[in-house]
Amino acid sequence: MRFVENIADLKQIISELNKTGKSIGFVPTMGALHAGHISLIKQAVSENDFCVVSIFVNPTQFNNKKDLEKYPRNIDKDCLLLNAAGCDLVFCPSAEEMYSKEEIESTFKFDFAGLDKVMEGKFRQGHFNGVVQVVSKLFSLVMPDKAYFGEKDFQQLAIIHHLVKSANMKISIIDCPIVREADGLAMSSRNERLNAEERKNATGISAILMESRTFATKLLPEQITEWVIKKINEAPGLQLEYFEIVDVKSLQKVTDWSNPSIGCIAVFCGDIRLIDNIRY
Ligand code: PAJ
Repeated sequence: MRFVENIADLKQIISELNKTGKSIGFVPTMGALHAGHISLIKQAVSENDFCVVSIFVNPTQFNNKKDLEKYPRNIDKDCLLLNAAGCDLVFCPSAEEMYSKEEIESTFKFDFAGLDKVMEGKFRQGHFNGVVQVVSKLFSLVMPDKAYFGEKDFQQLAIIHHLVKSANMKISIIDCPIVREADGLAMSSRNERLNAEERKNATGISAILMESRTFATKLLPEQITEWVIKKINEAPGLQLEYFEIVDVKSLQKVTDWSNPSIGCIAVFCGDIRLIDNIRY
C-alpha cells in the first residue's frame, strides 16, 4: 500500500493510473477506522482495479472546535487495517496541504436545494458546506470511477448525490449499508470516546429505533415520532437533539407512508453526539 501525504505525488500516481485505464474506487474518511469504514473499503477493493482511501480530519466541517480537537486519530492502526483490507493507496494530507488560508476562511456557499437546511444542517451550521468543500476537492484530485459512502450519514449521502448530479461529475456514488455492533449500536469513530456507562446507554438509540419499526405501519409518522421522542427522553443517559421521519429523497418531513421514509436521529450520550437512522 502506498502512503501519500502531498497533492503533487497523488496527482502523479493518478495520472499514471489513468493512462493504463484502470478503474479507481475511492473511500473518503476521517480515520479512526472501524468495521463500518472497512466494509466500504472492501467493497471498493472488490469492484475496482485500484482502491484509494483518504484520511483527513477536515477542519472546515466541524462547527464545534472541541469536537475537532477531540476527534480520535490513530494513523498507524488505520494503515494496518487498510493494508489488510487490500487498499492500494492511502492519502493523508495535512490541513495546510489541502487548503490555502483563503479556502479555510472561504465564505463560498454550495447550493444543496434545501437538503442542508434540515436535521444535521440545522444543528451543525456550515457542516455540509465543509463536507462538500473537501469531498469535491478530493474528487477532483482522485478522479474516481466510483466513490463509496455509508448510509450511517444518510443526509451526507443525499447531499453528495446532489453534488455529483448538479455538477455533472462522472462518478458513481455507491450507497453502503450501516454496520452495527453486536448490540445494535451503529459503528462510529466517536464510540471510542464513550465510557463504559455511556456505551451501555448508547445501545438505547438503535433499540428504540428498531422497536418503532415493528409497529410503524399501524401508526402515522407523527405518532411514531412522538413515541420515539418519549422513549429516548425516558432512556437513561440519552439527550435527544432531533428525531425526524423524512422522505428519503427530499429529506422533508412526511405525514404518511406513501413514499419511502427514513427516521433520522441525533442524540447526546454524555458529551458525545451520536447519529443513527432507520428505514420505515
Ligand atoms: P467518516 O465519519 O470517517 O466516515 C467515512 C465514511 O464511512 C462515510 O461515508 C460514513 O458514512 C461511513 N461510515 C461511518 N460509519 C459507518 C457505519 N457504521 N456503517 C457504514 N458506513 C459507515 O463521513 C465522513 O467521515 C466525512 O464527512 C467525509 C465524507 C470523509 C468528509 O470529510
